Amino acid sequence: MDFNENNATEAVLNSFSKIKDERLKKIMSSIIRNLHQVVKEVEPTEEEWIKAIMFLTKTGQKCDDRRQEFILLSDVLGVSMLLDSINNRKSKNETETTVLGPFHTTSPMIENGTNIANFVKGENCVVSGIITDNNNIPIPGASLEVWQSGPDGLYDVQKEDRVVDLRATLLSLDDGSYLFRTVKPQYYPIPVDGPVGDLLKNLDRHPYRPAHIHFMVKAKGFKDLITHVFIDGDKYLESDTVFAVKQSLIRKLEKNIDENKQEYFKLNFDIIMEKN
Ligand code: BEZ
Ligand code: FE
Repeated sequence: MDFNENNATEAVLNSFSKIKDERLKKIMSSIIRNLHQVVKEVEPTEEEWIKAIMFLTKTGQKCDDRRQEFILLSDVLGVSMLLDSINNRKSKNETETTVLGPFHTTSPMIENGTNIANFVKGENCVVSGIITDNNNIPIPGASLEVWQSGPDGLYDVQKEDRVVDLRATLLSLDDGSYLFRTVKPQYYPIPVDGPVGDLLKNLDRHPYRPAHIHFMVKAKGFKDLITHVFIDGDKYLESDTVFAVKQSLIRKLEKNIDENKQEYFKLNFDIIMEKN
């Protein structure tokens, strides 16, 4: 029988029905069923199909060792956070996870208390907290990688000189506590100079993420934790372009005055790790 719109899905599923890798079979079967369903539902013209192929082609062409446009696409389509929700279900009170984002890179080790804003100027901010397990027992020696953009909305790696700034690695102290100084983070747009930016424009969507600081926390006997702390009151908390806000990760900035009568913000972010 000829391949036609009634038997198309079955014909393709049958073509690999004998493969031994059950996981691959499940994945490919689902992709074929759903992709065929999209085509049947939308009935794209051949021109539209080529447009879709060209979009994916440009997405690939935008990728290099620094830029991953496919992950950005997965982020803005909510796929990254859907995957996060499925893979990081929490059983107790552990700190929730969120997207890694494209700007993580290795960072210099610092002592607790150090200012990580080496060059960027902004409103001073002291970030601190305690790392514990889910029974409130402090975890000393946990490694915390932190990174953020500056008030200009840029990460150090997005700048011409790529000089390390606003990122560091520190270890929690004997009582599980950590503290670093920085500048207040600001909301910023994700990179929009590629096909994902064009897509957002065509979908009439803004490209902004609410202000946040990224954390990657690792401790022996615990699952690695990738998360952010978000700043209460940010105007993009309800419409993060990558859908990565979780209410449990939002914290208030408290205004304070230091011993030199300088104003600064205090940001408390305790972290509860999940056992392996
Ligand atoms: C970020 O927070 O750095 C980020 C996350 C997803 C896409 C783009 C940027
Ligand atoms: Fe970010």
